[in-house]
Amino acid sequence: MRTQIVGSGFVTGEHLVTNDQLARVMDTSDEWIRERSGIETRYYVEQGTTTSDLGVGAARKAIEDAGIDKDEIDYIVFATMTPDHYFPGCGGILQEKLGLGHVPALDVRQQCTGFIYGLQVADALLKSEQARTILLVGAEVHTGFMPWTKWDYFFDRGGEPPTAAEREVYTRFRDRTVLFGDAGGAVILRPGSDDRGLLGFQVHSDGANFQDLYVPGVGFARRPYVSEGDVREWRHVPEMNGRAVFKLAVARMPEVVRELCKKQGISVGDIDLLIAHQANLRINEMVQRALGLSNDRVYNNIQKYGNTTAATIPIALDECRKSGRIKPGNLVCFVGLGSGFHWGAALMRA
Ligand code: ACO
Repeated sequence: MRTQIVGSGFVTGEHLVTNDQLARVMDTSDEWIRERSGIETRYYVEQGTTTSDLGVGAARKAIEDAGIDKDEIDYIVFATMTPDHYFPGCGGILQEKLGLGHVPALDVRQQCTGFIYGLQVADALLKSEQARTILLVGAEVHTGFMPWTKWDYFFDRGGEPPTAAEREVYTRFRDRTVLFGDAGGAVILRPGSDDRGLLGFQVHSDGANFQDLYVPGVGFARRPYVSEGDVREWRHVPEMNGRAVFKLAVARMPEVVRELCKKQGISVGDIDLLIAHQANLRINEMVQRALGLSNDRVYNNIQKYGNTTAATIPIALDECRKSGRIKPGNLVCFVGLGSGFHWGAALMRA
């Protein structure tokens, strides 16, 4: 039995945000962002729209695409690093919003590799016959950690511009804030009867250098777990050692793809389409070169959406399924690396 993706869908935040718009609140430029990351636009939610809302929107589209009744879903797996609440996770909240009854809802916390870990868990649940129809969601609202507060000015609908002092603070975080966007993606997974579907996984974790990408000031290592002082000092905004993350990504992603191909007894050159996590176009170009894949075998969409963490891979997958980029029989490889650090790859025969 092989697990098959029988439906997919995604939604983005309501607002298209250009690089020039970001320059309204911090010292940055369209040129810098495009050159260093490849990002041209990203989407932000309107205040009040949450990660579970984006998950619900994506799930509805995936359910429709699969042509199933929502009540056929008997397990939910929800990957996010930006849950609506510190706890509980988004899985149960989505279950309630979608009216899915009391089906189990599992939350996955593997950041940019969340969707790949979620696929592996879903595959195991289906293979062990503990579920028949799984809804796997990856969704994020990153705008909650953007440091600026003058959203009306940001969206050019009135309000005051930031003061010089505020602008200086927002500029301190520009290496991170320009990279992220809000979106949700979802797939429906079912056991299939032919040899199409998920072939295998290779995942890894290494907690040694988690401080190269983490949120320092919110968490139960602290008492209280969120304090005014931490917020005043901006410790609720992620810390990121961009160069270290970049280096790790360009080393680990090709490595794990090679490991998985070897385990599956196939050659890297057999991959018809590589769908990599979208954190930086430069990272993906280096991964592509390391694997020796031609442009027609790699899909990138970071230009439009930025980094949407757990939503990235299902969005790219949905675009490739619906645009004909994935053809029947194609060998598709998913790969990602994210905070933790967690990284991994999955192979699928379409
Ligand atoms: N606009 C303008 N200038 C900027 C910006 C910006 N948005 N950000 C940084 N700079 C400046 C810096 O201040 C620095 O200036 P200086 O030379 O005067 O000191 C200069 O640009 C170069 O900065 P670097 O940090 O060296 O730039 P780099 O080329 O490394 O690019 C980047 C930074 C884009 C963050 C890159 O390192 C990167 O993409 N790293 C990986 C990040 C990543 O993948 N994160 C997400 C992981 S996924 C997850 O788990 C959530």
